[in-house]
Amino acid sequence: MVVVSVVGSIHMDFYIRLPKLPQQDETVIGYGFTMLPGGKGANQAVAATRLGAETYFIGRIGKDVFGSQLIDILRSNNVNTDYVTIDDTTHTGIAFILLNTSGENMIAVAPGTDYKVSKDDINKAIDVIKRSNAVLLQLEIPLDTVIYAARVSWENGVNVILNPAPATHLPEEIYRYIYAMTPNRVELSMLSGIQVKSFDDIVKAGRMLIKKGVKYVIATLGGDGAMVISEHSAVHVPAYRVEVVDTTGAGDVFSAALAVFIAEGMDIIDACRMANAAAALKITRMGAQSAPFREELMQFLKSYSMVEVKRR
Ligand code: RIB
Repeated sequence: MVVVSVVGSIHMDFYIRLPKLPQQDETVIGYGFTMLPGGKGANQAVAATRLGAETYFIGRIGKDVFGSQLIDILRSNNVNTDYVTIDDTTHTGIAFILLNTSGENMIAVAPGTDYKVSKDDINKAIDVIKRSNAVLLQLEIPLDTVIYAARVSWENGVNVILNPAPATHLPEEIYRYIYAMTPNRVELSMLSGIQVKSFDDIVKAGRMLIKKGVKYVIATLGGDGAMVISEHSAVHVPAYRVEVVDTTGAGDVFSAALAVFIAEGMDIIDACRMANAAAALKITRMGAQSAPFREELMQFLKSYSMVEVKRR
């Protein structure tokens, strides 16, 4: 079994389902409200464990009801929580998610304890980081901590997968620590400074990040699938067609699946196909922590390819 460590955020997601997303100054009456576990880091940890990795989550929760509910959910998913710190200086991270009938969302986050995740937390987990096959990072905790975690992992020969979300500018130093980066179009535009519209733009922008030191840029393109860009090649991997319920956390499931399958030794293009399929299954379900289990993923791939053969 491969070992995956996730350093990152954990939230209680407050969802309101709406007929449409509001514009600025507009009020829209919703259909219903629900609370579900979330946070990009925790979402990735749950996805990695369901897909078959021994998974460690390194992060912080507050000493409040959401914190204890969220840690219980991680544990019930078999995620190791030995490196989760209970921090009573502020509240557990919270996200407000507005979701329309097409499954598209708007998200606002109050990070709370996410922003307390520190270099010390990484040092405490150093033994587990050293024996990991992959370390997964995102950008909902302090950037200094992300850079430190990336550097320490890289120095110990551990592959770093960075999901650069939410979009922000990154210092030059971090790029060389990253094995694979999974930006969406918005994030890729911000990181490269190129407004990506066409596939050509995506490849050009991806190559800019590769020049800075990233080995693979895997641009996630929603319904258009993903583009795997390396120094000498760019391969488009199409998406699976499914009924969309909730796209929240699809990028998290994608990044986690990529990390697990790369860690297992799969070729990057095949790992990307698996990640596309895992993300496709996730978007058929409500909630950011509704990643598929490995058996479901395998079953989906089998039945999907049978349907595709019939279509041809
Ligand atoms: O990527 C989806 C996640 O972003 C949600 O679970 C929300 O908590 C925010 O962190």
